[in-house]
Amino acid sequence: MAISSLGYVRIAMRDPQQWADVGQNILGFQSVTAEDGSVRLRLDEAPFRYLIEQSDSEGFVATGWECSAETFAEIKDRLTESGAPLEEGTEVACAARAVQAYISTKDPSGNLVEIYHGRDAGDEFTSPLGLNYIAGALGLGHAVLPAPDHAATSEFYREILGLGLSDILTLPAPMEGVPEMCIHFYHAGNPRHHSLALFNGPAPSGVVHLMTEMTSVDDVGACLDRVNEAGIPITASLGRHVNDGMVSFYFLAPGGIPMEVGFDGLQFDWTDFEPTNSTVGDHWGHAYNFPE
Ligand SMILES: [Fe+2]
Repeated sequence: MAISSLGYVRIAMRDPQQWADVGQNILGFQSVTAEDGSVRLRLDEAPFRYLIEQSDSEGFVATGWECSAETFAEIKDRLTESGAPLEEGTEVACAARAVQAYISTKDPSGNLVEIYHGRDAGDEFTSPLGLNYIAGALGLGHAVLPAPDHAATSEFYREILGLGLSDILTLPAPMEGVPEMCIHFYHAGNPRHHSLALFNGPAPSGVVHLMTEMTSVDDVGACLDRVNEAGIPITASLGRHVNDGMVSFYFLAPGGIPMEVGFDGLQFDWTDFEPTNSTVGDHWGHAYNFPE
């Protein structure tokens, strides 16, 4: 058995409210501030999908992966056998994540990974902007992680977490003296084309991007208007990806976290699926523009 979905992400901020403002006013997430100053951002019935923690440094902290108690035990065994670092979540840390139990480890590229089971639904979800998201059993969306140690990191998610390969995208080197770009896309035990992608290079904030999926192209367009009105940098124009069919744009959220806001992502029955190889990233659009 495999991981069922990407359940949460953790982000560190000197001022968590800065992220909360973007989460609420730009993305339409429901924001709940805890006593310790951390912020839980919700986009469905889950207790939270984004945990914004108060810290001296800023950036991406961890992905949190949901699975059954049975799969949890199997993953723990495989981690122990592999000799990977392994820590059990304390009672306090489990409560902060609203889970029964979790373990944390690091993938071969150094990304912090948490695996949990037993997460209760939270209160009823209400978006301050009246929005809905493609989430629930499909998880929060997807995360693209830096994986300079590409082969070993890819093997880790495939063999230890049991994620399934969806697509390998290879793109020519963006400039001379730089290797070609290669991204491995992985699905969990749900129909979303990918819950994780691994990029064969570094990412300054600790994450290449996070994706949240809305329920109409108009919701994506209205979000693009809010980003422009707020003067927030757009890091990729509107476009449609080839492999997951997502119509999306990207902006730079606080902490240097690039966010993809999309609609129309493809969903699959994985029973007889054969992984694909792509050499083109987009049908149209997605002109990239990273601020210096
Ligand atoms: Fe993406």
